[in-house]
Amino acid sequence: AAILITVLVSYLIGSISFSIIFTRVFDKRDIRTMGSGNAGMTNVLRSAGLKPGILTTVFDFLKGIVACLIGEAIFSAFLGTQSELFRYGVYAAGIAVVLGHMYPVFFGFRGGKGVLTTAAFLLMITPPVLACDFSLFLILALLTKYVSLGSIIAAATFPFWGWLFNYLFFFRTGEVSLQYMVLTTLLLCFLSAFVVGRHHANIGRLLHGTEKKFSLHHEKN
Ligand code: G3P
Repeated sequence: AAILITVLVSYLIGSISFSIIFTRVFDKRDIRTMGSGNAGMTNVLRSAGLKPGILTTVFDFLKGIVACLIGEAIFSAFLGTQSELFRYGVYAAGIAVVLGHMYPVFFGFRGGKGVLTTAAFLLMITPPVLACDFSLFLILALLTKYVSLGSIIAAATFPFWGWLFNYLFFFRTGEVSLQYMVLTTLLLCFLSAFVVGRHHANIGRLLHGTEKKFSLHHEKN
């Protein structure tokens, strides 16, 4: 029951596509018909402007945090506060909220690529996971100006950071079992495959040298 409720609630929270909502409010258009066509932070900043872009960034990140906190709370309520068990709540919620963001039930299942919501989930696993992964993203995105390249490499490598810090902070201290290490690493690999997979068009463009370098949309007013 704990898993089912967590997954359902988190999926519904993930389905609230703030990029679509804020672009509609500020621009009266559907972000999925603009720029790269992606319902996500990068495209809102690029195509709709700073205000909806910042709001999307904040709210898409927050929905990831909120879902993970709810997952933790539901698992604790049903299964007790033993560390290993309630930590699973974060994984159930984190994966479901990202999938909701990618395939939102409220918006015809056409959502974003899940980078920002995944970042929120990584923060909730333990902050150093996000710190390492985000640093990698930032270095690549700033050096190349390809946000997608930063996202793809960060998405491909977060299972490693998750494994490393789970090992250092929780396994070595005896807080979690080997089974937990194996299962959480598999879950991270599963999510990583989804996020990288959602970038298939970007990967094609990067290989052909046709990916757009990032620049901020300049509002006329
Ligand atoms: O966060 C999504 C980013 O990696 C790519 O977005 O709009 O350039 O396809 P976009």
